Amino acid sequence: MIIAIDGPAGSGKSTVARQVADRLGFQYLDTGAMYRAVAYRALEEGVSLDDEPALARIAGSEPIAFGESGPGTVSIAGRDVTHEIRTAQTDRAVSPVSAWPAVRRALTDQQRGYGRSHDIVMEGRDIGTVVFPDADLKVFLTARPEVRAHRRGLQNARRGVGETDEALLLASILERDDRDASRSAAPLAKAEDAVEVDTSDMTLDEVIACIVDLATGERP
Ligand code: DC
Repeated sequence: MIIAIDGPAGSGKSTVARQVADRLGFQYLDTGAMYRAVAYRALEEGVSLDDEPALARIAGSEPIAFGESGPGTVSIAGRDVTHEIRTAQTDRAVSPVSAWPAVRRALTDQQRGYGRSHDIVMEGRDIGTVVFPDADLKVFLTARPEVRAHRRGLQNARRGVGETDEALLLASILERDDRDASRSAAPLAKAEDAVEVDTSDMTLDEVIACIVDLATGERP
């Protein structure tokens, strides 16, 4: 079974998707972390964010792994980059990197590979529209921009990495959403058959219960 959870930055996708996966005994895959890992490696190597072939080479040749250095960790080419991919610098680079079709092709291939072999909850921007258009359940999570900036600030403070000023976060989130939704390759979009859940005024437990009920058929 494949559950696709898409939505803009700070809508609660990561927290919700991880806990829904735990509840159902499914694997969990954070596809945003994959785009972030490629963006981080590009910055590290001094690769221009305009250089599509070089960026695609990183995406296609440097394997990304989850949980290799402990629960919740992200590695690329055998190196733990869990913290590095959450910095404000990576935040700025990831949208331009993820807009390149060749980068998306390389990462989409890997994502489809995971989905073929596991029951999985996969979260991102294009899971229900492009990666798994036949997903068993598609959820599009949204929340008001101020709520999203507030949540991302709390998350960054908890992780001890990334921006925590909510006004700066709001500006950066809005800019990223705009780029992600307006790019031509696999833009951020709600699939026609996705269930939209506005989480602004819901608790985390309510959102998780809602999605688990949808997955188990207890909610129409
Ligand atoms: O979910 P996130 O904020 O960690 O995602 C980081 C960026 O990666 C986001 O700005 C857009 C991009 N992304 C994407 O283009 N497609 C996905 N499936 C997941 C993320």
